[in-house]
Amino acid sequence: MQPQHFLSLLDLSSDTLNQLILRAIELKAELKQGKASQTLGQKTLGMIFDKSSTRTRVSFEVGMTQMGGHAIFLSGRDTQLGRGEPLEDSAKVLSRMVDIILIRTFSQQALETFAAHSQVPVINALTDAFHPCQLLADVQTYHEHRGPIEGKKVAWIGDGNNMCHSYINAAVRFGFHLTIATPKGYEPQPEVVKNGNGAVTLCHDPHQAASAADLVTTDVWASMGQEEEQKQRERDFAGFMVDEALMAEAAEDALFLHCLPAHRGEEVSSGVIDGSQSVVWDQAENRLHAQKALLEYLLQDRTGSAE
Ligand code: CP
Ligand code: NVA
Repeated sequence: MQPQHFLSLLDLSSDTLNQLILRAIELKAELKQGKASQTLGQKTLGMIFDKSSTRTRVSFEVGMTQMGGHAIFLSGRDTQLGRGEPLEDSAKVLSRMVDIILIRTFSQQALETFAAHSQVPVINALTDAFHPCQLLADVQTYHEHRGPIEGKKVAWIGDGNNMCHSYINAAVRFGFHLTIATPKGYEPQPEVVKNGNGAVTLCHDPHQAASAADLVTTDVWASMGQEEEQKQRERDFAGFMVDEALMAEAAEDALFLHCLPAHRGEEVSSGVIDGSQSVVWDQAENRLHAQKALLEYLLQDRTGSAE
C-alpha cells in the first residue's frame, strides 16, 4: 500500500483537513492543561532541510518530542544528498529507518520524486511551489479567532509565490473566496490558479483585494532563493505594502496573518503586524499544534482502510 503523503493540500480531502484543524485545536487545549498526548512513542521523523528555517524545524521537532517520538535534523549540506547521492536512493534508505520524513527544498518535482521512492509518508515542509503546513496553522488561527473560514473573503496581497499557491489550494479545500493582488508579472502559476475552481479572483490592485476582506495576508517579496532579485522586487512591489490604510478597507473585524519571517516597512507596516488585528504570534505557535495533528494523521495505521 502507498503511504499517505502531504505534498500539497490537495493530497487530503476537505473533510480530513477540517478534522485536522479541529484536532489541532484539541491538542493545543490538552497541552495547555498539561496533558500532552503521547501518541507517537517510538516514532522517528527525518527532517531534510535544503533551505533555512526557524518555525518549521522547531515546531516539528518539539511536536515529535511532545508526542513521545523523536526527530532527526538532516541538513542537505551535511548528508550524502549534498554530495550527489540520488534522491531515489536516499528515499529508499531513509524510509527503511525512519517512520515519516519531511523535506524543505527548492523543487516540487524533487519532492515528488523522493516521495515516489519512500515507503513512509513524506511531508512538504516548503518548496518553491507550495507551503501546505503553514496553511494548516493559518486556517486554525482564523478558526480560533473568528470561527470556520468557510464562506469568508480572504485577500492575498503581494507575490504569487509558494504561500499564495497554498492559499489557492486552501480556498478550494476549505471553501473560502480568495482575491489575489500581485504586481504585473508576479501572478501565481496558471496551472495552480486553474485548480482554484472559481474560488480565486486575480487582480493587480491591493485595494480591490482588501475591500471588505475578513482576512488579509501577505508574505515577503523575495522568497528564499530569490535574494538577488530583492532590489528589483522592492521597486516592482511599490504600493503593495499592507499598511493601516489598506487594513481600513477590509471588514471591521478583519484579521491580519503573515507566515513570517516578515520585513517591516516592505510587505507590511510595523503598525499592522504589531497592531490589534494581527494574530501572527498565534499563527506561528499554531504550526506546532497543526503539525502534531498532521503527524498523528499520517502515522495512523491504515491497514485494512480504504484510504
Ligand atoms: N513560516 C515558516 O515556514 O517559517 P520558517 O521559514 O522559519 O520555517
Ligand atoms: N515565501 C517564503 C516563505 C517563507 C516561510 C519563502 O519561500 O521564502
